[in-house]
Amino acid sequence: MAWSPDKTEVKSWNEWDTLRHVIVGRADDCHIPPEEPALDAKVPEDSDMRGQWGGRRPQETIDRANELLDNFAAQLRARGIRVDRPVSIDHSQPVTTPDFHTDSQFGCMPPRDVLLTVGGHEMLEATMSYRCRWFEYLNYRPLLQKYWEEDPRFRHEAAPKPRLTDADYHPPDYLSEKIGVEKRLEWAAEKFFVTTEEEPLFDAADVLRFGRDLVVQHGFTTNLKGIEWLRRHFPPDHRVHTVNFPPGDPYPIHIDATFTPLRPPGLIVNNPQRRLPEEQRGMFEKNGWEIVDAAQPAHNTPPPPLCYSSTWLSMNVLVLDPKTVCVEKSEVYQAEQMDKLGMEVVEVELRDAYAFGGGLHCCTADVYRDGDCEDYFPNL
Ligand code: NVA
Repeated sequence: MAWSPDKTEVKSWNEWDTLRHVIVGRADDCHIPPEEPALDAKVPEDSDMRGQWGGRRPQETIDRANELLDNFAAQLRARGIRVDRPVSIDHSQPVTTPDFHTDSQFGCMPPRDVLLTVGGHEMLEATMSYRCRWFEYLNYRPLLQKYWEEDPRFRHEAAPKPRLTDADYHPPDYLSEKIGVEKRLEWAAEKFFVTTEEEPLFDAADVLRFGRDLVVQHGFTTNLKGIEWLRRHFPPDHRVHTVNFPPGDPYPIHIDATFTPLRPPGLIVNNPQRRLPEEQRGMFEKNGWEIVDAAQPAHNTPPPPLCYSSTWLSMNVLVLDPKTVCVEKSEVYQAEQMDKLGMEVVEVELRDAYAFGGGLHCCTADVYRDGDCEDYFPNL
């Protein structure tokens, strides 16, 4: 049945079919969380974030980020896409469980990190792997409750909350003050990440949806048990594939500035510093998926102040349909490449919101895309 704006339905099988309904995050009350093992390991040694733990981000930066997010939501609405927004909780509140304590939380700009919409009609809350993000799903609960009321087929699922004791992290290695990028690259290549295999951990932004296949990055925020949990959770006709992108990324966190599918079979843009290794390319190549290097970012550094992500947010794009893609306005090389690849580019200004949790893909989560379950990898 065709999608109707008057009826809520949760369904999205992939990253590219026509987008009809989406969540766009908010910068409200975003905090720089206090020091904790996973976060400490993530922040680059030369980042201005080092030593800046704790506290609410300055109001003028929150206002500016919200202005950009509101404009993005308006742009999508003007194209007929239904847009919902989270309701921010008080991120200054500490979190205490029997297993850990943290003095504050993070924010609700990147719903993509928390919510995984798979097929019809499931939305799954990820375990998350940072203590400061343990309660982040609460920002989205008003929306998920509404979907549950309005879509009788909606399955609201939540992965088991992890305990996040110290056993989940690899001290002291990743917690030493100065590891150095070379050591980090070596460890990432050996798949020695900050998170251990104590219990299943995953962030939703480590998962890409290709119909019946899920492609999941094993790294800092998703461990092998998390991937196994996803495998056991979904029906057996789903397939879950583990990928890594060594040796180029010293902080392998979230797949969406590394590997970006644009349309079915198939075109994928891959970060040239984080190329999919030869031995993992087979399943794509055998099934007509072309993997091309992404264009260089337009910037040499992430936008200050206090940005967690790399300049490769240039390729953190939002595909609206197999011919149309939202690209950040200043990312002129990425836009030019998309145009050459036959995509219509919608420019969206977002750079001043990057520090709040990422780019155009990060700050959105699919509620509904057209299309049904397809097998894009018949030759496995
Ligand atoms: N860890 C990634 C961000 C993914 C959205 C990067 O900084 O490149």
